[in-house]
Amino acid sequence: MGEGERNTKILGIESSCDETAAAVVEDGSRLLATSLLSSAAIQAQYGGVVPEVAAREHAMAILPVVDWVLREAKVGLGDLDAIAVTQGPGLLGSLLVGVTFARTLGSALHLPVIGVHHLEAHLYANALEEPIRFPSLALLVSGGHTSLFLWEGHLALRQLGQTQDDAAGEAFDKGARILHMTYPGGPQIEKLAGLARRKNLRLPVADMHGRLDFSFSGVKTATQALYDKHVQEPEEVAYALQDAVVRALTATVRRAWQQHPVKDLYLAGGVTANGAIREAFAHLGDSLGISIHIPPVSYCTDNAAMVAALGYYRWQAGDRMGPFEGPKVLFPLGQEGD
Ligand code: KG4
Ligand code: ZN
Repeated sequence: MGEGERNTKILGIESSCDETAAAVVEDGSRLLATSLLSSAAIQAQYGGVVPEVAAREHAMAILPVVDWVLREAKVGLGDLDAIAVTQGPGLLGSLLVGVTFARTLGSALHLPVIGVHHLEAHLYANALEEPIRFPSLALLVSGGHTSLFLWEGHLALRQLGQTQDDAAGEAFDKGARILHMTYPGGPQIEKLAGLARRKNLRLPVADMHGRLDFSFSGVKTATQALYDKHVQEPEEVAYALQDAVVRALTATVRRAWQQHPVKDLYLAGGVTANGAIREAFAHLGDSLGISIHIPPVSYCTDNAAMVAALGYYRWQAGDRMGPFEGPKVLFPLGQEGD
């Protein structure tokens, strides 16, 4: 069904954190429509994502979000070939809403349901732009993860390194809290850093002793100490924080490229929405003579187009959720034995 002349239409569903999203993607690359409702504004009142609140908001949003995207795409339920849903990692209550919805719809329509990995999906946001080129390096920088992979082919990611403590997004979110800003902190740190003039405050970057890993917990402590000394200049502190994250990411990727001199680097995840990071990697690409690929800003943060894009390749590979499978709160990716 679907393979051959007819285009394969996959409905993607994302509900792993605080965004309820749906999208319809054709052949893993052509986005027909996308919709998203975020509870971030509600979460901001609590200073971070409260799992119970997120789950309740997903339960209210999921039906209207899916309904809307099908209308927008002018795709009927009968036109779908499969449903792809984020199976993990993420918050259990949040994942349960998307997975249960997808399975129920799949069962009613006799459609295959494909459970996808949220982080792998982030990387597949790049497949909406142009075909992925292999082998390549892939850097995933989100609110919960910072990982570097060798991308050897479709569905073939080999992890080269990861954060040993906080994720880069957490460094932004915790730094924002220190500077008395609300969740999510990344966009606000970026805006504040844009006001910096002196740009000469420095935060240390962890020495990973040549390994391809990251560490951002020290950045948080150092941000607090720097802010205590420069309370009158929060914009300079924000700049220093952003700059420390940029230096840590680019230095590690440069090291990885020396070991794996590929021609393409793919970036993904919410933190790659950051303008300074996008610019720094563009420079790195020029200096190494390689192509840097970053999805448009709205597909860096959580969305369902990336879920449907990855779902296509998993569908082709014959992956289906088993009859008794549920969400996977912890879900390793690209490690030995996966
Ligand atoms: O990928 P994502 O939407 O969700 C996860 O899967 O974690 O990433 C969310 C993270 C948050 O930590 C948020 O502060 C960060 O991405 N973020 C940014 C920017 N926009 C979002 N960080 C820095 N600069 C931004 N412009
Ligand atoms: Zn994400």
